[in-house]
Amino acid sequence: MTSAPASTSALVADSSGDETELSLRDLPLTDLGTGDVLVAVAWSSVNYKDGLASTKRGRVARISPLVLGIDLAGTVVEPGTSGLAVGQPVLAHGYDLGVAHHGGYSQYARVPAGWVVPLPSGLTARQAMTLGTAGFTAALSVLALEDHGLEPGAGPVLVTGATGGVGSVAVSILAARGHQVAAVTGKADAHDWLRALGATDVIDRGAVADASRPLNKETWAGAVDCVGGDVLASVVSSLRYGAAVAASGNTAGTALPTTVFPFILRGVALLGIDSVQCPIDRRREVWQRLATDLLPPTLDQLASSEVALDAVPDALSRILAGGSRGRVLVRIA
Ligand SMILES: NC(=O)c1ccc[n+]([C@@H]2O[C@H](COP(=O)([O-])OP(=O)(O)OC[C@H]3O[C@@H](n4cnc5c(N)ncnc54)[C@H](OP(=O)(O)O)[C@@H]3O)[C@@H](O)[C@H]2O)c1
Repeated sequence: MTSAPASTSALVADSSGDETELSLRDLPLTDLGTGDVLVAVAWSSVNYKDGLASTKRGRVARISPLVLGIDLAGTVVEPGTSGLAVGQPVLAHGYDLGVAHHGGYSQYARVPAGWVVPLPSGLTARQAMTLGTAGFTAALSVLALEDHGLEPGAGPVLVTGATGGVGSVAVSILAARGHQVAAVTGKADAHDWLRALGATDVIDRGAVADASRPLNKETWAGAVDCVGGDVLASVVSSLRYGAAVAASGNTAGTALPTTVFPFILRGVALLGIDSVQCPIDRRREVWQRLATDLLPPTLDQLASSEVALDAVPDALSRILAGGSRGRVLVRIA
């Protein structure tokens, strides 16, 4: 087992005033922050939140300079007092990673032991980051709907932002579990790709039910929404009696212009999904399931591209503009 060098190459965001500058540079390992466990990072990924952390307007970065990257997978180099073995494959995401603690766009990362998830057997580091934060959030969303009572055969389940990270993994997982999936997208050229992931219907974003109406036709047996805004309002107004939507994101906005009527007349539920503070035991349990019964059979198709650290800034701009498809992997090792 090779020992760690004195420094690491990392993609760093420096903020001053209203501007954030991204640069690839060498950082001493002693600057990586607190934490028991030093990880040699093999793979990371590009999430919408990474895009937000790369600009001042995104308002999620809480330190400067900041090594970006809200998720990572690699191997333990220094376990500290964690009890992990040197060479153990691990992953980490969420908590302060990549927003208030140096993140995964670096050859090495130092993280608290309480953030570390041993890589489940059957999953490679590359596969884990093909799923990444987005895939974990999709899994939490599907589990929340099923815990609420959604069963295969209950009727169509809507997924919004379907070509994005959370959306595309949700389409894949739901279809593999036998649910009938309708996918909403703004990308006219992505319909065939969504069908290949398992969607039986693809709906243009402009054709979703009128969000200004408090109640629309009862259509969806469940929904996964990572978009928020008018799109989520439209979903809430179109849920069937007693159905639920699992809501995790806000790419279309933070407002939720709806009324109480779907809740008090149809008994629908709005299930909030949070991956960031999800307790570590639950996190490890869900990753075990992502390696087994929740593993999307279309995992290879979900990874749309693979970039090296120097190409990450372009990928971040693309995801912020809503132009990303599926999951973008960041190759570190
Ligand atoms: N709660 C949590 O713990 C958690 C965890 C992960 C992510 N998130 C949030 O979930 C959201 C998605 O994250 P992601 O990494 O999957 O991002 P992503 O890959 O960019 O996916 C978002 C998708 O939303 C759709 N979209 C973009 N702009 C839109 C607009 N103005 N109106 C309607 N739809 C729009 C696009 O899909 P189409 O082109 O197919 O319509 C886009 O691909 C983000 O808000 C992120 O912060 C939250």
